[in-house]
Amino acid sequence: MAILIKTPEEIEKMRIAGRLTAEILEMIAPYVVKGVSTNELDKICHEYIVDVQKAIPAPLNYHGFPKSICTSVNHVVCHGIPSDKVLKDGDIINLDITVIKDGYHGDSSQMFVVGKPKIIAERLISVTQECLYKAINIVKPGVRLGDIGHIIETHAHKHNFSVVQEYCGHGIGIGFHEEPQVLHYGRPNTGVVLEEGMCLTIEPMLNVGKRHTKVLPDAWTVITKDRSLSAQFEHTLAVTATGVEVLTLRKGEVIG
Ligand code: MF3
Ligand code: CO
Ligand code: CO
Repeated sequence: MAILIKTPEEIEKMRIAGRLTAEILEMIAPYVVKGVSTNELDKICHEYIVDVQKAIPAPLNYHGFPKSICTSVNHVVCHGIPSDKVLKDGDIINLDITVIKDGYHGDSSQMFVVGKPKIIAERLISVTQECLYKAINIVKPGVRLGDIGHIIETHAHKHNFSVVQEYCGHGIGIGFHEEPQVLHYGRPNTGVVLEEGMCLTIEPMLNVGKRHTKVLPDAWTVITKDRSLSAQFEHTLAVTATGVEVLTLRKGEVIG
């Protein structure tokens, strides 16, 4: 399948799906506190998506995924399955939300901290968000995916964090995961050339320790092999004539 270029009408639908995705992260933020279980966070999001937004939680039953959101705590890199496990002081957690509205997907994730996290956890989270923002800031027609990977990798390594290579960003639209793959490492001036009308996610995952990951026997949960802390941020973007539109931008969020 080739990379699908979206029409202005399709981008308007992506804008709506993106806004709903951002609104779920805004809605759930006050619930991410010590003592809440990730199952409870999943239930609140599920009911909001279905009952308030009249939308579909894309992860539910996606290739057999059993829940409506992904909850990745501490050394979990991504695709954590909500459970009865309760958040405790000092935990860091990524909530990854994907909704389908009117046939189109919005996909975004952010980190939350519970109580007072370790300094290293706070640094990891800041640098991961900076990696996403630096990548977003160079997106425009003519820029190549290798440029995006390179800027992420360079900033992460400058701060002595590693970049996960086994999972990547992706094209997005009617499909959850469309072409192209958006790697978070790479060489400048290589790879797919961005064009107006492309919609894609950038979703870097950084680790305190080594980059390597493994999948738990539940076949979903991805953890760092060395059990070091991991963080991730994700936005859904549209490439415009002159730059980029962040379709999942949250209220008050500024791409620095
Ligand atoms: N939201 C993830 C992404 O950013 C994919 C999750 S797949 C699931 O691409 F099945 F685990 F939900
Ligand atoms: Co996602
Ligand atoms: Co994604």
